[in-house]
Parts: sequence; C-alpha cells; structure tokens
Amino acid sequence: MPATILIIDDEPSVRESLKAVLGVSPSGPSAADTDESYTILQADSGEQALTMVQGTRPDLILLDIIMPGLDGIAVLERLRAKDRSTPIIMLTATKTVRTAVDAMKLGATDYLTKPFDVDELKMIVRQALERGSLELEVRRLRDELAHRYGMDQMIGKCTAMQEVFAKIDQLADAKTTVLITGESGTGKELVARALHYKSKRREKPFVAINCAAIPDTLIEAELFGHEKGAFTDAQQRRLGQFETANQGTLFLDEIADISAGTQAKLLRVLQEREFTRLGGTQSIKVDVRLITATNKDLESAMRKGAFREDLYYRINVVPIHLPPLRERREDIPLLLRHFITKKSADRGQSAKQISSDALSLLTHYPWQGNIREMENVVEQILTLCDADQIAVDHLPLRLRSGTKGSQMKEEVTTGIRTGIDRRRAQAGQLRADAGRPVAGHQPADSQIQDGQSGNHRPRKPGTAVTIITKDTERKQIHLKLLREAIRGLEDAEAGRTVSLKKLKARYGR
Ligand SMILES: Nc1ncnc2c1ncn2[C@@H]1O[C@H](COP(=O)(O)OP(=O)(O)OP(=O)(O)O)[C@@H](O)[C@H]1O
Ligand SMILES: [Mg+2]
Repeated sequence: MPATILIIDDEPSVRESLKAVLGVSPSGPSAADTDESYTILQADSGEQALTMVQGTRPDLILLDIIMPGLDGIAVLERLRAKDRSTPIIMLTATKTVRTAVDAMKLGATDYLTKPFDVDELKMIVRQALERGSLELEVRRLRDELAHRYGMDQMIGKCTAMQEVFAKIDQLADAKTTVLITGESGTGKELVARALHYKSKRREKPFVAINCAAIPDTLIEAELFGHEKGAFTDAQQRRLGQFETANQGTLFLDEIADISAGTQAKLLRVLQEREFTRLGGTQSIKVDVRLITATNKDLESAMRKGAFREDLYYRINVVPIHLPPLRERREDIPLLLRHFITKKSADRGQSAKQISSDALSLLTHYPWQGNIREMENVVEQILTLCDADQIAVDHLPLRLRSGTKGSQMKEEVTTGIRTGIDRRRAQAGQLRADAGRPVAGHQPADSQIQDGQSGNHRPRKPGTAVTIITKDTERKQIHLKLLREAIRGLEDAEAGRTVSLKKLKARYGR
C-alpha cells in the first residue's frame, strides 16, 4: 500500500505541483517512478489540516510555513503536541529558511525550499518516510518492552511483594540509586526494568551489565569507554555504558564483584556525575539513573573491608529486597498459573490445569533457584505432559520426592544441631580410650560413655568418636558431624526416603 502524504499549503498551484511529482493517479501512478508514488491528501489551511489528522494518520506531512490564519509553526506545535513520530517536512521560501531551521528545533524532520528541485524533493520525502517507519517500529518495540517488563507482568500477592510494587511506584521517577537484593532468580533484574519502564526515562536506553561476567581488566573500559590508543587493542574510540545509558538507566548486576579500583571510579561518577574515558582527559557529564543488584551480603562485605563503605551508602540509598520463593509460598500457585498460561500461549496450546496433588508438591518444593527454576520446571512439564491436566507423574523426578527431600534436609540439619549441642555438653565428661587411634581408625568395639546418664552404648564399627584432648575431640566431632551432614544432605538432595531413625542407626547415634 502506498504511504499517505498530507500536503498543507494555501496555494493550490504548490499543492498540485507536489501532487504531480509524488502522487498516485486513480488509473495508476502518475509520478515517473512507481516506487515513489504516494497517496496524497490536501489541506488549504492549518485549521483544515488539524481537523483532518483527527480522523486519519498520514505517514508524512508537508507543511508550508507562511499561511493565512494558523501559520506553519503554530500548526507544527499543535501536531507535535499530539504525535511525536509522524515526520513533518517544512516548505519554505528562501526568505524563511531561518524560520524553517527554528522549526526543526520544535520537532520538524527537515525542510524544502521553494521552488522545489524534483530529485531533492523525492529524496527528502523518501528518507523522512524511512525514518518515520523506523521510529514507529522503535516505538512499537518499546511499548512491547514496557508491557513485558511492566509491573502487570510481575506476579506477587504476598505482603512483601506488595511492598516491593509500592516502592517501584514510588521510586520510578526519582533519581535515587536503588540497591536490589535477593537470592538468584528472585526477580532482581525484572524489578530494575520495571523501575526503568515505569519512569519518564522509558524512551531512553536501559543498559544492564553483569559485573561478575566481565573480567576485572575490562570492566572499566566497558563502563567508562576508552579513547583511541588507550591500550594496545584500542584502535577506535569506544563509548562506555555510562554514555550509552545517558538519560536512561544503568543496571549494574552482581555489584559485589567489582574490584577496589572500579569501586573508586564508580564512587566518583556517583559523587560528581562525571568521568573520563580510559586514556582520555576530557570530563564527560552524564545523566544516568543507577540501579544495582546483588545476591551477596554487601553489608558484611563492607564490614570485612571488601566493599567500600562510602560506595555502599551511595548505592544503597533505597534498598529493595526480594524474598526467596519458599518464603512466599502463597505466590507459588499464581506464578505457576502465570507461566503455564504464558508458555502454553507461546506453544499455541491452551493452558492446562494442575491436579491438587501436583500443586501440593509444587507448592512445598523448596525452589532453591526461585522463580527462574520454576520457569524452567514449567517448561519441562509442558514438554512432558500431553494430558489435559498436569499430574504428579508429569513433574520432574526431584519434585516428586522433593517434599521428602526438603523435610529430610530440615530433619538432618536439626539433628546435627542437636548433636552438636549434646556433644558439647558431653565434651567435658567424655574420656578418650587412651591410645586409641583417631576417628576412622577406631576398633570396632569402641564405646563412648554418656556422662549424663551413665549409660554405655555400643557403637557401630568405624563410627565412634575418640576423644584424646579437647582440641582433637572438637575436631573429630566436627569431622564426623560434617560427614553426617554431607551424607544427609546428599540423601535429601537425591530425595531418598532415608528416615532420621535410619540415619541415626547408620551413624550409631
Ligand atoms: N514476580 C515475578 N513475576 C513473574 N515472573 C518473574 C517474577 N520475578 C521474576 N520473574 C521471572 O523469573 C526469571 C528470573 O528473574 P530475574 O532474572 O529478574 O532474577 P534475578 O534475581 O535477577 O536472578 P539472578 O540473581 O540469577 O540474576 C525471569 O525470567 C523473570 O521474568
Ligand atoms: Mg539478574
């Protein structure tokens, strides 16, 4: 379909000559070049044009500057107030070129001087149309991104998530730096994007950098750019991400992993809002909103001296913490429904229901990988399940025994803690079997005296703890408990249904 051009000019002869060059006649293209033939709409005044654009959206507007009534500049301002993307080319007599240049500051795309050169006219129209359609495409993609990363795609009805959403609302347009914390896969990047796409910066870039994935030697060049010749391979000047994100948002993920040198540079940008490219001397000012995230304990890194205190307080102006999924189990059914619906639609399938048994297993699973793990699990389930309803059999193996596994983990951990307490209590009263070798080399019949009860319990071969001195005793107790922990956790991980009773029997306790 040919593009539509609206010509706004009070002089009929100008409109007609433009139409002759660009227009399509009812019986076919009248312009010499078929590829450059357009559907032409005409308005003889600014007022008429403004009425016309209410009902139709031309792909391009040719707008005369000098007209009786509303002049071209006034029309341009009104058109731009409503629509920023339609290309508008100003038509001007040589005398008014200065005005045409001013018009470009108000959002005009280009200008043409009368009398028109046909080739120049065609070229400017073609370029403006190309730019217009690119801008439309960018706008469409941006809207799609804003929708994808907007809060309506973020699921969470628990109180903690409601508070996160309220903070996003409140902070989106502030320039405050935000530190997002939470385990891996809890949605930190999604929150950073929501902050950007909810803000006035949404039309500008959102640049995300994973600091842990970039070698220390490269991160400064990545963030601040470099001049030509700054180092051996620097054959060109390269802009850093701070410059790329200008007027937008820079998201530094895994911030705990940056070196002391980069921390110092980052602090300077935050304090002074300017930096220099590597190998450069010129100070560059940027307007960037910084959002950082980490799944590490940054406060303790700061206390240990691994993270600068001044930088910590600069980036942690407002913290947002995302709870792990196991601490917001009420959200699990909602998230499952969300992913099933979304992924089924991607596959062109209707969304399946989940049986109550399967839902119960999914709800009680510990979700160590949080929402990312859930997304993968749903993908796996949909690949495996060809029934209408998702049943226990369609769940990955680790989930089917997951509940027992997680219970085991808790039991084992509790058991170990109790063990440590008990053994600490016993420590002063137990006596080593003099001369006995250390743990793992004990004779089969070694025994431990339970000082409190006075009972003697036979120990299983190879599992008794021999206490020689207090220190050795402590080490050996820890060794054995560690071994128990590892075995127990392995069992739990594999979802083996080993009871605590059996474990105790195995280790003779
Ligand atoms: N509240 C939510 N609702 C819906 N989907 C979510 C939600 N939170 C996270 N997700 C999805 O879970 C996945 C992981 O989220 P994201 O990458 O933001 O986590 P992260 O905390 O940055 O993880 P990592 O620490 O591993 O980088 C993404 O696909 C994201 O779209
Ligand atoms: Mg992330």
